[in-house]
Amino acid sequence: MILLALETTCDETAAAVVTDDCQVLGAALASQDLLHARFSGVVPELAARAHVERILPVIDEALRRAGLELARIDAVAVATTPGLAGSLLVGLAAAKALAVALDRPLVAVNHLHAHIYACRLAYGPEVFPCVALVASGGHTHLYDCRGPLDLTLLGGTIDDAAGEAFDKAAALLGLGYPGGPAVEQAARRGNPGAYHFPRTFANEPQRLQFSFSGLKTALRYVVQPPGGTPLAPEQLAMVRDDLAASFQEAVVDVLVAKCGHALERTGRPTLCVGGGVAANGRLRTRLEELAGSRGIRLYVAPRELCTDNAVMGALAAERLRAGQHDALDLDIEAGLLR
Ligand code: KG4
Ligand code: ZN
Repeated sequence: MILLALETTCDETAAAVVTDDCQVLGAALASQDLLHARFSGVVPELAARAHVERILPVIDEALRRAGLELARIDAVAVATTPGLAGSLLVGLAAAKALAVALDRPLVAVNHLHAHIYACRLAYGPEVFPCVALVASGGHTHLYDCRGPLDLTLLGGTIDDAAGEAFDKAAALLGLGYPGGPAVEQAARRGNPGAYHFPRTFANEPQRLQFSFSGLKTALRYVVQPPGGTPLAPEQLAMVRDDLAASFQEAVVDVLVAKCGHALERTGRPTLCVGGGVAANGRLRTRLEELAGSRGIRLYVAPRELCTDNAVMGALAAERLRAGQHDALDLDIEAGLLR
């Protein structure tokens, strides 16, 4: 069986042609980074408009790379939750049109579950059962996964997501957008112990939630002291790398601590990690240390499958196998977290 999967939850327009046994036949992605860079964050209205312009060329390109005609597609998958409402609607409208035109099943995919499924795609079915962390621009969530479709949300962020914190830190430090890779690069030259930033909830094993707003404020207070004079550009240049390294270390400390707490809570022997922030080298190293010290199996999604993509929409094949698909009155659920 061959699926066409669409992904337009945020600011990447992506399509992939995948088989139900997890082979990728062709994939295409149009990034909107340049469009949003001057705002240091995603502007929802611009994102939705860009998806409208790009979705059909991206689908064509994915099919071209797969060497297949549209008629060979057996089902159409689309990420419908969570995400930006306008962005989600573009993907859903395209998926419905294709499903009607081709007379094929329409299959909704939960984008956060798909981030976890990226580990299944890369490493095989043995990644389940597991504890899974999804750390992205919009979400920081821990799950207990019995299988790809059988997940319980253990806890999430109560304010900013980890990736959002990276993006805001990068904007404060004048490092550009998207912030995660820019902060990581600066952090390589800096001292992670130079500043002590808060690690909210890191020492509360019973609390499987995250909060990054205090950390963001702490960084802001160094760069722009309340009631004081903001650091001059040359002063900021001298401390930028140390601030980036200290900030990154605080985020990583919290993410790793919470994974440890979730592993303890569930007793699972396996940890899967996905989402854009999982591309971070320091986080990957620290997760390996955690896995080594606890004797658990660790599966971190390959970097190209960490950030948003349509390949991970292969999760839809699991739904089809379970006898599930969706009616044409399927709707988006922008804010729903499951
Ligand atoms: O999963 P993703 O592509 O989109 C969402 O679903 O949100 O994640 C994007 C987020 C951005 O906030 C970006 O700054 C962050 O992932 N990110 C990183 C790195 N690469 C991307 N954060 C830290 N280190 C990185 N290397
Ligand atoms: Zn994502």
